[in-house]
Amino acid sequence: MSDLWDSIHQRYVRQDWIHKPSIFAQWAVQYFPAQGTILELGAGQGQDSAYFAALGHRVLSTDFSSEALRLSQVSGMPLVTLRQLDMTQPFPFEDASFSVVYAHLSVHYFDSAATKRLFSEIRRVLIAGGIVALLVNSTDDPEYGTGTRMEDDLFEVSEGFVKRFFSTASMEKFTEDFERVILDNHGEAYKDNEIGVKKLIRFVGRK
Ligand SMILES: C[S@@+](CC[C@H](N)C(=O)[O-])C[C@H]1O[C@@H](n2cnc3c(N)ncnc32)[C@H](O)[C@@H]1O
Repeated sequence: MSDLWDSIHQRYVRQDWIHKPSIFAQWAVQYFPAQGTILELGAGQGQDSAYFAALGHRVLSTDFSSEALRLSQVSGMPLVTLRQLDMTQPFPFEDASFSVVYAHLSVHYFDSAATKRLFSEIRRVLIAGGIVALLVNSTDDPEYGTGTRMEDDLFEVSEGFVKRFFSTASMEKFTEDFERVILDNHGEAYKDNEIGVKKLIRFVGRK
């Protein structure tokens, strides 16, 4: 699966949006505590990690794709550490290691059991009062229901490429162990705006 992402990243690097902080990052950062470290999951080429660091946050920027890490824009930034991490595996971090866990369009590729394990790992590595901020695909996406259905809201949309689509209701269920700060479908992303995909699901929660 990371091979597929390696080739997608070779396409992404040529897009304008890859070189600027996401709409979601610029909005979500208002909820982040000033102290501590942000763990970014599926950071891709690191435009959001670089943005958080430029604002003075310490960041651990992670992805499982070697190509994403090679192309990452955080190289040389003193506040950012880059690390390969497959988020379907238990995290190699102690409990309560991070003040924020952040993921932009990266936690919507997994079946329900893996998604539950991932959200529980996110909670485990957050400090008490820590923030989780997620932007994910929504069931309003025109791609929803296309391809082969694997389970509720999970589809193999093209060969070997599986996507989960969240509603506010399903996100509420997956995140029931967090205190909800924001849960809505007002999310936007430059990449999705280009293809008319709107109403992404935004979740900000507190441990
Ligand atoms: C749509 S891209 C988003 C990348 C970046 N956050 C952005 O917005 O440009 C999804 C990212 O998730 C990463 N990813 C997918 N599955 C992963 C996994 N199991 N563990 C870690 N990263 C994963 C991909 O390599 C890719 O960088």
